[in-house]
Amino acid sequence: MKTLNFSHNDKMPIIGLGTWKSKPGEVYKAVLTALKTGYRHIDCAPIYGNEKEVGNAIRDAIKAGVLTRKELWVTSKLWNDAHRKDDVIPALRKTLSDLQLDYLDLFLVHWPVALQPGVMFPKGSDDFLSLSEVPVAETWQGMEAAVDQGLVRHIGVSNFKLERVKHLVENSRIKPEMNQVELHPFLPQDELLKGCKELGLHLTAYSPLGSKDRSSAIKKDDEPLLLEHPAVKKVAEKRDCTPGQVLISWAVHRGTAVIPKSTNAGRIAENLNAAKVELSVEDIQFIAQIGPEYRFVDGSFWAMEGSPYTLSDLWG
Ligand code: A2P
Repeated sequence: MKTLNFSHNDKMPIIGLGTWKSKPGEVYKAVLTALKTGYRHIDCAPIYGNEKEVGNAIRDAIKAGVLTRKELWVTSKLWNDAHRKDDVIPALRKTLSDLQLDYLDLFLVHWPVALQPGVMFPKGSDDFLSLSEVPVAETWQGMEAAVDQGLVRHIGVSNFKLERVKHLVENSRIKPEMNQVELHPFLPQDELLKGCKELGLHLTAYSPLGSKDRSSAIKKDDEPLLLEHPAVKKVAEKRDCTPGQVLISWAVHRGTAVIPKSTNAGRIAENLNAAKVELSVEDIQFIAQIGPEYRFVDGSFWAMEGSPYTLSDLWG
């Protein structure tokens, strides 16, 4: 399995298992199956509401001798209600306790959006804090403290536009090493990829398959189907693989980590096997012409009436 290089010679396996939308009751089996199948990278977040079960699966896999903790890469994230410097470590400790781990390999600021403590999703304008009240620089000091205390090996961000990444890199003691963003052929984000690489950050592609299982609250009825796009199907036929594998392999060929979510044993294996799919330069160019641009997770839930956040400020 290809890996991405991090500081201290750490290596992140390029394909990981996504756990967003994996329901409690399903995610234990999914993670255990994935680890037995050979996954060595699990992507988590407290807002997914399933870290305790993910933790049980990791614990049981280690107990059963499937792998050691050192062989596994675990990423989790800081939710938006814990952006104040002094709230970062307590939030991290809750995640570590739920995951039953002593440390995370990677800890990300989930969104450049701050909410009042205890607010998971905003219901009204009072639930927000603006970035002038709690600047990312303040949150980052908490993230750096997490590294200093040995609770996380690497830190990074998620859903950050290039300008914001640049500002953070220029104003941080411990540099971010990852930006996890939505990436797939409908949203290739070439400039962000190039810019982040130049600044020393890797990208992780979330929603690489188009996240068709999003809740109806954040899913539009008429959105395009990535897995059924004729160009993706054509390359799948040519390479004798599935459309899902084409999309995962496309991400790997671009040098980004990729975290397809599945709770189905067959698709969990299928997605890991995408590492073996070879795409030619022509295949990649063919897929690159797919358009039109489409963002599945557009962040409009942060841009409600009265919110200090706007979509143009979020994405640039
Ligand atoms: P399931 O969990 O039943 O396998 P994303 O990673 O972009 O969020 O997409 C996840 C969605 O894609 C889920 O609905 C998941 O369903 C489905 N999925 C995962 N792997 C594949 C695959 N190889 N082919 C088709 N659908 C897939």
